[in-house]
Amino acid sequence: MLSEVLLVSAPGKVILHGEHAVVHGKVALAVALNLRTFLRLQPHSSGKVDLTLPNIGIKRAWDVARLQLLDTSFLEQGDVTAPTPEQVEKLKEVAGLPDDCAVTERLAVLAFLYLYLSIFRKQRWTKEDLELINKWAFQGERVIHGNPSGVDNAVSTWGGALRYQQGKISSLKRPPALQILLTNTKVPRSTKALVAGVRNRLLKFPEIVAPLLTSIDAISLECERVLGEMGEAPALEQYVVLEELIDMNQHHLNALGVGHISLDQLCQVTRAHGLHSKLTGAGGGGCGITLLKPGLEQPEVEATKQALTSCGFDCWETSIGAPGVSIHSATSLDSRVRQALDGL
Ligand code: MEV
Repeated sequence: MLSEVLLVSAPGKVILHGEHAVVHGKVALAVALNLRTFLRLQPHSSGKVDLTLPNIGIKRAWDVARLQLLDTSFLEQGDVTAPTPEQVEKLKEVAGLPDDCAVTERLAVLAFLYLYLSIFRKQRWTKEDLELINKWAFQGERVIHGNPSGVDNAVSTWGGALRYQQGKISSLKRPPALQILLTNTKVPRSTKALVAGVRNRLLKFPEIVAPLLTSIDAISLECERVLGEMGEAPALEQYVVLEELIDMNQHHLNALGVGHISLDQLCQVTRAHGLHSKLTGAGGGGCGITLLKPGLEQPEVEATKQALTSCGFDCWETSIGAPGVSIHSATSLDSRVRQALDGL
């Protein structure tokens, strides 16, 4: 089944423009980030295989022989169907999770085992395998918020910079290597409730909310056009347009009711450093992005990160346009990733 160490990573992602509007059939622009989540599967001569998910602190070991005994015929239908309760019971038995195991850990391990048994036996993924991964990730999104647009799983699977509308995906050709700050306000929120809130507002005030969604759509299209123009040698004026689009979209998202005081604070703090930010994803807390324009001195970036950290937020400096879900060879990994995988 598995003879060598298997290392898999998936990129973090953000929505540049079009969150919420995309649920109502509008365009969204989403990008994969150079911030990755890793997992490692390591077989041992003892006949055990270890699963390590360092980003969520999970380490588990199983007997390879027991995994091989599993009847996985139900996975060979070539399409994504929710596992039956009997199959989930079987997976739980194999996973051998202790009773006091946290729900998130339990779900992560069961989801991993199910996927592993269907596609992870391969050492290279074809386009069809990636399509299957994307469909499974979409099912995961459905568990979390019921009626996802599909943009988040698509960008994590395919990577790069995508335009997404009603399941139709196209990659932006040669997007500029924008630098951004990704800030997590650490304010918890429910994507499901926020998406429902926007729907209710649209039903209650159609004449007010529908034009907001149309305007967000136009912002996404304008951003796509500008990114396309920026190519290899972006000009400062193009960054100024991107900043204006960020500001307008942030105000629209507030008008849709998905803002939060923590996000207002994030925008104010970065504004004090001459930078422009908006929420990304569902809003109501969660994460925001800040555009770093070229020519910005590193001490200024550090001062902004420090100011955000002082608000209690987590902040990462990163760039957009990373590869999608990938298999790695052990030797190609950076030493910090190896340490994280070994550290559990
Ligand atoms: C959540 O990351 C993005 C939303 O647009 C929901 C979705 O697209 O499914 C709010």
